[in-house]
Amino acid sequence: TDDFFKNIISHAKEYGFVFPSSEIYDGLSAVYDYGQLGSELKNNLKTYWWKSMVQLNENIVGIDAAIFMHPTTWKASGHVDGFNDPMIDNKDSKKRYRADQLIEDKIDRYEKDGKTDKAAQLQQDLDDALNADDLVRLKTIIEEHNIVCPISGTKNWTEVRQFNLMFDTQMGAMADGAEKVYLRPETAQGIFVNFLNVQKTGRMKIPFGIAQIGKAFRNEVIARQFIMRMREFEQMELQFFVRPGTEMEWYKKWKETRLKWHLALGADPAKYRYHDHAKLAHYANAAVDIEYEFPFGFKEVEGIHSRTDFDLKQHQEFSKKKMQYFDPEINQNYIPYVVETSIGLDRLFLTVLANSLVHEDLSSEEKQDSRVVLKFHPAIAPVKAAVLPLTKKDGLPEKAREIMAALKLDYNIQYDEKDAIGKRYRRQDAIGTPYCITVDHQSLEDNMVTIRHRDSMEQERVAITDLSRIIGERVSL
Ligand code: GAP
Repeated sequence: TDDFFKNIISHAKEYGFVFPSSEIYDGLSAVYDYGQLGSELKNNLKTYWWKSMVQLNENIVGIDAAIFMHPTTWKASGHVDGFNDPMIDNKDSKKRYRADQLIEDKIDRYEKDGKTDKAAQLQQDLDDALNADDLVRLKTIIEEHNIVCPISGTKNWTEVRQFNLMFDTQMGAMADGAEKVYLRPETAQGIFVNFLNVQKTGRMKIPFGIAQIGKAFRNEVIARQFIMRMREFEQMELQFFVRPGTEMEWYKKWKETRLKWHLALGADPAKYRYHDHAKLAHYANAAVDIEYEFPFGFKEVEGIHSRTDFDLKQHQEFSKKKMQYFDPEINQNYIPYVVETSIGLDRLFLTVLANSLVHEDLSSEEKQDSRVVLKFHPAIAPVKAAVLPLTKKDGLPEKAREIMAALKLDYNIQYDEKDAIGKRYRRQDAIGTPYCITVDHQSLEDNMVTIRHRDSMEQERVAITDLSRIIGERVSL
């Protein structure tokens, strides 16, 4: 499984999906760039989310709020005081660790060694300490369980301290009056502060939702597992405003809707599971994660939270502006309750790569021994079709260019005339192109081409005039 994960990372790099940020300077930890195919895939994932949220639901609208927000926003949301990780330093190696992560690793070790009782007890201790924000207890646990620094091998630990995950910077001139502002750690707050703007100008009636896609920033201390945990990442969030007392109903509905959305991309349902939270964030009265089985285990991809009226109430208190809604059906004013769905676009991207990358043994088919294929759902494939003239002469390239010109306004199409046709098929397989369109000598006479299907490798002869319709039928969800 380690190898499979390494394959994903190297495939993503080799074919232009994901590069380390500023790689010529040896990269920047937990920051990545999306390449020519990665950005197409990412855009397709955004479109899939936006259409299924905003376009298909009359009562959901989308916004695009700024990354910078008034600093009081983060006081009100609880992030200034509470968005912390407990950190501990090893005095010998001078390395810093997340205290809870060190303990989690110990739990994994106990489990691997078959000490399941000990693992369960330690998990309980850890949860209790985290729930109580008890930093002294965390340190004691680390000592009691003889947890050593992975680098120095010693137990020479500092105290446990809170470390805020928000990035900050100065707004305005650096002298007097410069104000500390934060890079948003979640997109959600941009929605909450605009709740009344959207409700009034859009004449929205509860229940209704506001959706947003945008960057978020967290100074993650432990940066690992490629694009799983990044310092700059992208979220796709929905805040769905409901009448108090109806939130559990909506919570259940969104929990189901969101899992179906993931499965519609063609993943094996066994790779997904719910993880209900026993321990709730300060703002939630129910929370569940949708987890995907990555090569390194089940991990959260999306969170669904019943956030109650926590955020709007806090903003009402801090801004002194009423955050109420008048509900004409029951003739009452109230602060709405909120059900949130929050998905990390980069993590979704990683699930899609992990789900799609296959190494196939072919024996006799197409006379090659094996191939590497990205079996993306056609709707999200970065390139929808490749147009391939069988030879570089006899007017075939010109005919292929004509076909391209007719298709490229609607679809992302690649043209390729280099190397033998089998080799070109392999290149398209490796980037997940669902259809290869081959133009041969016969095409000049009958205006028909061969479509070769990525997954079955079957070929069919179709009229050039039917191409757009055929591709169109197969690339929608
Ligand atoms: N507004 C709620 C919220 O932000 P969260 O569980 O902290 O909740 C939601 O984050 C989602 O954002 C996660 O399920 C994950 O997919 C993604 N996410 C969070 N931190 C991330 C990071 N450092 N790198 C990549 N994705 C991250």
